[in-house]
Amino acid sequence: MRLIFLGAPGVGKGTQAQRLAAQEGIPQVSTGEILRESVKQGAPLGRKAKEYMDAGKLVPDEVVIGIVRDKVAATECARGYILDGFPRTLAQAEALDRMLQEKGGGGGIEHVVSFDVPNAEIVRRLSGRRSCPTCQTVYHVEHDPPRREGHCNKCGGALVQRADDKPETVEARLKVYDQQTSPLIDYYQKRGLLRRVDATVPIDKVYERLQEVVRPSRRP
Ligand code: AP5
Repeated sequence: MRLIFLGAPGVGKGTQAQRLAAQEGIPQVSTGEILRESVKQGAPLGRKAKEYMDAGKLVPDEVVIGIVRDKVAATECARGYILDGFPRTLAQAEALDRMLQEKGGGGGIEHVVSFDVPNAEIVRRLSGRRSCPTCQTVYHVEHDPPRREGHCNKCGGALVQRADDKPETVEARLKVYDQQTSPLIDYYQKRGLLRRVDATVPIDKVYERLQEVVRPSRRP
């Protein structure tokens, strides 16, 4: 299963990708997570990316294309993968097409899932988001709270609020999505790969809808 998850910040791409990746036994390739990890480690990549991320801007194409090129070529991705948050520009989408063509072996993208949520709901979701910096599990203080307040169900780590979830940064990220990423909807629609999911419903219901679009012959 080779999928792209597309959608504005906070629509629930990461939440759904974590579930589906665990169920299918394939990796979730989240460029945002990889970049945040590099920032945390003070790696050269992280130092370069931090100023863009803090401002809610996209990290330069060549940086993220390099990350995804290495990931997709790795053996862990041989059985499939979910690209969560990549591509986000036309240049990234074209680079991915070239990458997969060069790789050959019929390993093209099967579905591009676009999650749709209105901006007002996105702002509510991001202001209540908490995540585990150790195992990356995502929670919401109201919609998906941990069993013990402030602590991860899986590893017990202390939950944190992401630096780029401040209201002014969220506004900048939403603008960037409209200007630079939303043209990809048309790009993949023209290639017959786009599957739209109304993601305004609760998490379990979105997951049901997701499975219907990515595995039409094996409904749960
Ligand atoms: P990234 O980490 O990819 O952030 P994003 O795309 O902005 O997406 P989010 O992680 O904010 O949201 P999500 O859709 O995964 O929602 P989630 O599941 O967490 O990127 C961060 C930064 O890195 C970018 O700004 C950029 O600088 C850089 N970057 C990354 N990729 C790049 C690229 N390709 N090119 C250039 N730069 C790049 O859910 C949100 C909240 O809602 C959670 O609290 C969750 O519990 C809750 N929730 C989820 N679903 C529901 C539901 N159905 N009902 C109620 N609540 C829900």
